[in-house]
Amino acid sequence: MANTDSWGSRVGLILAMAGNAVGLGNFLRFPVQAIQNGGGAFIIPYLVCFLLMGIPLLWVEWSMGRFGGRKGNHSTPFILHEMDPKRAMWKYIGVFGIFTNLAVAAYYCYLESWTLSYIWHSIAGSFNGQTADQVAGFFSNYVDINTTTTGIPFEPIVFWLICLALNTWILAQGLSGGVEKVAKIGMPLLIIFGIFLAVKAVTLTAGENGAINDGTVGLNFLWTPDYSSIWSAKVWLAAAGQIFFTLSVGMGSIHCYASYVKKKDDIALNAMSAGWMNEFVEVVLGASIIIPISIGYLGIDRVVELTQSGGLGLGFKTLPYLFTQWGPTLALIAGVCWFGLLFFAGITSSLAMGTPVMGFLKDEFGWKHKPAAWFFGLLILILGLPTVIWFPSVFDEYDYWAGTVSLVVFALVEIILFAWVFGMDKGWKEITTGADIKVPTIFRLIIKFVTPLFLGFVFIMSLPGIWDKITDTSAPWQVHASRVLLLVLFLTICWFVRVAYLKRKAAYKTTHR
Ligand code: ALA
Repeated sequence: MANTDSWGSRVGLILAMAGNAVGLGNFLRFPVQAIQNGGGAFIIPYLVCFLLMGIPLLWVEWSMGRFGGRKGNHSTPFILHEMDPKRAMWKYIGVFGIFTNLAVAAYYCYLESWTLSYIWHSIAGSFNGQTADQVAGFFSNYVDINTTTTGIPFEPIVFWLICLALNTWILAQGLSGGVEKVAKIGMPLLIIFGIFLAVKAVTLTAGENGAINDGTVGLNFLWTPDYSSIWSAKVWLAAAGQIFFTLSVGMGSIHCYASYVKKKDDIALNAMSAGWMNEFVEVVLGASIIIPISIGYLGIDRVVELTQSGGLGLGFKTLPYLFTQWGPTLALIAGVCWFGLLFFAGITSSLAMGTPVMGFLKDEFGWKHKPAAWFFGLLILILGLPTVIWFPSVFDEYDYWAGTVSLVVFALVEIILFAWVFGMDKGWKEITTGADIKVPTIFRLIIKFVTPLFLGFVFIMSLPGIWDKITDTSAPWQVHASRVLLLVLFLTICWFVRVAYLKRKAAYKTTHR
């Protein structure tokens, strides 16, 4: 069956792409990265990375996707192959664009499922009357599946299965019937919830409801630039990593979504609309909730300390307690808004992670849409189970290899393919065809020289960390086993790509006999 899915409307496409980018990374990862890297010290490298890596990669990936889609390809192995059909290696490099989405979705869906559970507990009033330590302990207890005593037997597994089923069911409804509808409902709600919480956060007043600082103390911590950070490689790596994760560049999901764009449709303005919407949500909303509220109640030092011992849990460990300081009714509303916002942010991203493997199976093996969606659900169940059982060690391992290293490697190679092999003349034409804005010509030079050099630099700077990881013999067996599992996943996809390629070759020979 031909892969005939398509977007229903331009607004739907932009919201789905923005939803792909806007995720848990905006609300949970960004504030923690900012705090861990010195608040204002983080912002300058972050913005430079957005301009010199993020924006160019958005244009490159959208145009690669539309280019590949024109020729009937909806996943990166054959999108990359189409750009330089003479060399065999590109389709195997393109494997990253399926692998990364599967491996990230495997732990991401677990994180996403916590938000469903916390919505339930906010409504049930589970946090009312608890001390700060009890609320933090609730989280630790929740993720320890051996001792969970948070109300429902095997609670993290139950919510995880619900979350997986929901993702799979929505994917099975197709792009315009499922993904686009969720984005059209989820994105506006997320922004409304975010504005409500951000207003509450920045108007916090020291001395009221137990707050020790005004909301502006947290904002000042984040927004006072610190120029000394420009020389810190660690801060640059963190900033680059955040830009990759938040924009979902170097992943393969943008290529896949863009491959369903019509061949003369704009991509230049669409890419910027989705990218800047992500930055608004991250830098304006994402930065104005956790940081001002937690610093308002706990102070800078305590918040810095909390983020040192693992970051992603901060929003779960602290905010429910801080919300209860506002009284039971407002605590319920704030809890539902916060975890509801996180849920919508998460699901619009995890849906995007499902589409590349589905596109691949439909294009190459003639799968129908629904079985492809359920197959994705099954894969995530198998790959995700170790992250649930051995949280956080296996979860962190997946995040490191798939959510950090793979993104840089793939982005570096794809930009070389685009700017130097496919060539900037053709590449620029791809970016500007049908464009509803004038793309500044300076980006021709940036895409050709600056972004590849920048990415090369980030990659080289990451090497010592990668080496330390590989040679660290103290890691538990589960961590080693999870590395083997990820490697097996990568090689299995390579094998399927090889089979698909041979099938294509045989079909070509038959039709050209
Ligand atoms: N871009 C997605 C996020 O920020 C993956 O969470």
